[in-house]
Formats: sequence, C-alpha cells, structure tokens
Amino acid sequence: MRLVLLGPPGAGKGTQSSRLATELRAVHLSSGDILRAERKSQTELGKLAQTFMDAGSLVPDDLILRMMICRISGPEASGGFVLDGFPRTIPQAEGLDERLAMLKRPIDRVVSINADDSVVSRRLTGRWTCPKDSSVFNESYSPPRRAGVCDLCGTALVRRKDDEPQVVSQRLTTYHAETRPLIDYYRGRGVLTSIDGNAEIDDVYARIVAACRGNG
Ligand code: AP5
Ligand code: MG
Repeated sequence: MRLVLLGPPGAGKGTQSSRLATELRAVHLSSGDILRAERKSQTELGKLAQTFMDAGSLVPDDLILRMMICRISGPEASGGFVLDGFPRTIPQAEGLDERLAMLKRPIDRVVSINADDSVVSRRLTGRWTCPKDSSVFNESYSPPRRAGVCDLCGTALVRRKDDEPQVVSQRLTTYHAETRPLIDYYRGRGVLTSIDGNAEIDDVYARIVAACRGNG
C-alpha cells in the first residue's frame, strides 16, 4: 500500500503512521524525522533546514524533494510506504507524482486528518518524544508508563523545540497557507479521504484503516 497522511501539526500523522506502517508492512517515511536526524548529525542539509524548522516555516521544496524522492525510489520502499509530512506543497506533490508515475507505483490513498487548531495546539504542548527510537507520547493523552522515560528503550524523553507556543502558531499558519491546498489537489485526483482527527487515537486509527479499505 502507498499511503499519504496529510494534516496539520499535531493531527497525529506520526502517531498513526508508525502503527499503520507496522500493520501494512510498509516503510514509514517522515520528512520531519529525517530532517531532525540530519540536524542532529549536523549535515549540510541539517544545518540549512534548522533555521526554517525553528521558525515554523517550510524547508525549500528542492531540498525536500531530493531528500524524499531518493528514499521513496529505494528498495526499502518498494513494498509500500506511509508518507508523513510529505508532500506539503503543490510543487512537492507534483514532484512526487512525476517520480511515482515513472516508477509505475502511484499513490493508493491520501488521508487528510482534520483537527481543530485549538485541539492540536493542546496536543503539541504536551508532546514528549524519544530521541533514540522516535516513539511519541503525550503527558495528557498517552503518557509513558514512567514519567519522562521511553516505554520501549528507557531513554529520557525530550520536547521538540518547535513545540513552543509561538512556533506552533506559525506552523499552523504555514499549514493553512501552503499545505491545505493539497486537499483539493488530491481530491481532484480521486484518491482523497478526509477524516475527523479530533477523536481519540484508536478511533482515528480505525477511521484511517476504513479509508484505506475504501470504506471511509
Ligand atoms: P514535522 O515533523 O512533519 O511536524 P508537523 O507536521 O508540524 O507535525 P508534527 O510532527 O508536530 O505532528 P504530527 O501530526 O506528527 O502529530 P503527532 O503524532 O506527533 O515537521 C517539522 C518541520 O520540518 C516543519 O515545520 C518544517 O519546517 C520541516 N518540514 C518537514 N517536512 C517538510 C516538508 N515536506 N516540506 C518542507 N518542510 C518540511 O502527535 C502530536 C501529539 O499529540 C503527540 O504527543 C501525540 O501523542 C498526541 N496525539 C496524537 N494523536 C492524538 C489523538 N487522536 N488524541 C490525543 N492525542 C493525540
Ligand atoms: Mg510528526
């Protein structure tokens, strides 16, 4: 299955993608996670991306397309993928479509997880992430068993720098201006299902699975 999850920051793209990828035996490709890994290793791309990420704006399309297209075209993605955070602009979606057409592996489904700005802002301020295995927790909705520690590997959890309230507000503005137009783009291609993402994690998951089965 080749699946794209769209949605504002905090919609649950990361939370749902990792579970879906396991279920679908597909690779989970998160552009945000890849950029954070590049930043941590202080690569040229990581250093370039940092300013944009810290400001809550988007990293330029040409850098993102190069970074994602090579992973999507690689052997690890040949059995299917769940894209999380990419594409995020019309030029990125067009670049992706072009490459997938060449590979004869079109997107099967795009699920837009819609959630209110007030709901996602609350989720982001309570998010804690494992820097080692990228597990995501939330102090209000899905807390780790031991406060501040990853359930899976025991590493101390960290807060993302871009979860500061002013950056969250800028990320939401960026989403509405640059990413929301993708909803119409994919609707026009007949692959879009929109779901309500304001619900609990398990309910949102069930809605995505139903959408993938064509029952959404
Ligand atoms: P990225 O890492 O993609 O961030 P984002 O889109 O802003 O989304 P988040 O990761 O914050 O939210 P999410 O939807 O994954 O939610 P999560 O599951 O974690 O991008 C970061 C930056 O990188 C961008 O700002 C940009 O600068 C750059 N970038 C990345 N991709 C790019 C691209 N393609 N082009 C250009 N620039 C790019 O959940 C959030 C919290 O809520 C968690 O604590 C979770 O436990 C909780 N939660 C999730 N679902 C629920 C639920 N249903 N109920 C209650 N709690 C929930
Ligand atoms: Mg994410």
